[in-house]
Amino acid sequence: MATSPQADGESGTVFSAETYFATQPPPSSLEQDVARVKEFLQRQLQDGRKVVLVTSGGTTVPLELNVVRFLDNFSAGTRGATSAEYFLKAGYAVIFMHRQFSLQPFSRHYSHSTHPFLDFLEIDESSQSATSASSPRITVRPSEEPQLVEVLSTYKAVHRAGTLLTLNFVTVNDYLWLLRAVSQEMSILGRSCLYYLAAAVSDFFLPRQKMSVHKIQSGKGSLHIEMDQVPKILKPLVAEWTREGFIVSFKLETDPNLLLPKACQALARYGHQVVIGNDLHRRKFEVVFVSPKSSSSSASQPSAYEESWLRIDLNKDPHKEIEEDIVAELVKRHEGWIRNAT
Ligand code: PMT
Repeated sequence: MATSPQADGESGTVFSAETYFATQPPPSSLEQDVARVKEFLQRQLQDGRKVVLVTSGGTTVPLELNVVRFLDNFSAGTRGATSAEYFLKAGYAVIFMHRQFSLQPFSRHYSHSTHPFLDFLEIDESSQSATSASSPRITVRPSEEPQLVEVLSTYKAVHRAGTLLTLNFVTVNDYLWLLRAVSQEMSILGRSCLYYLAAAVSDFFLPRQKMSVHKIQSGKGSLHIEMDQVPKILKPLVAEWTREGFIVSFKLETDPNLLLPKACQALARYGHQVVIGNDLHRRKFEVVFVSPKSSSSSASQPSAYEESWLRIDLNKDPHKEIEEDIVAELVKRHEGWIRNAT
């Protein structure tokens, strides 16, 4: 039986993961998504591939059941989509669980805001299309061809190999249900699975039972909404759903002084393998890996953790992506994790 949410004097109601799942309804697509995940994992298991779950993009918190307004979390999905490509390159199969319409592997190179696809296509009036004699041919601007050939051939090869599965979420509720289901399925892989939790997950939400059915009306002065705390989902992920997986979470801060203490705090609380700390304004060229010291006897002491900074020089190489080095480092650590299984 579900326990009731606890009232907490400072921050309203605190849901445990158990209470959350007992009181909030699953998304309608969950069963179908789980069937796709099962089929995907069976194939990767047969092929002996390691699997990484990449979460990417921000979750929303709807304020109404017929949703017109919602709170959003910052994330374009660049970190997740870019990292997914490097994991595929390293031989992993990837479950890419992302916020609907955020960036995706491969298509991210042609984002409508930074590199619109239509801008590098040209209409060649002098020749005819292969399928219709009345239409002219479409060609790619020559300067764009080398990159397009590279991206397209990798994209097609990944499709042929069947090593990328894409799942969508929008709300924090979709995210929590999906993360639980996918991680429970992935646990069949034991130490061969890696979790790369780059999504920006809402910390507060409105339980369904407290939501207004229709659009909240204006005209009555200011709006007061009391939100409840989303359960810290890393806790059951590590302790119950996937005990052998190699789990990497991210910590985003805007105050650089908080980055290391918060990363250590997360490791002490959840007992997982790595926290990658990133400062909002420096995240494209600097991150810090924080992990338990291998020889440490007490993981609850701050001194029990070691930090390792990873930096790239974008002045020297403006096309370098820090995710390439992040993934290379994690692949190495994950191999060690698999080797150390006794
Ligand atoms: O997509 P980009 O624009 O490139 O940006 C990438 C990024 C900056 C969003 C990414 O690199 C990043 O830092 N993501 C994590 C953002 C963050 O700090 O989220 P958080 O504080 O809400 O969560 C920290 C960790 O706790 C996360 O790994 C999350 O999985 C976990 N968490 C969060 C909320 C919750 N209720 N339960 C959790 O377990």
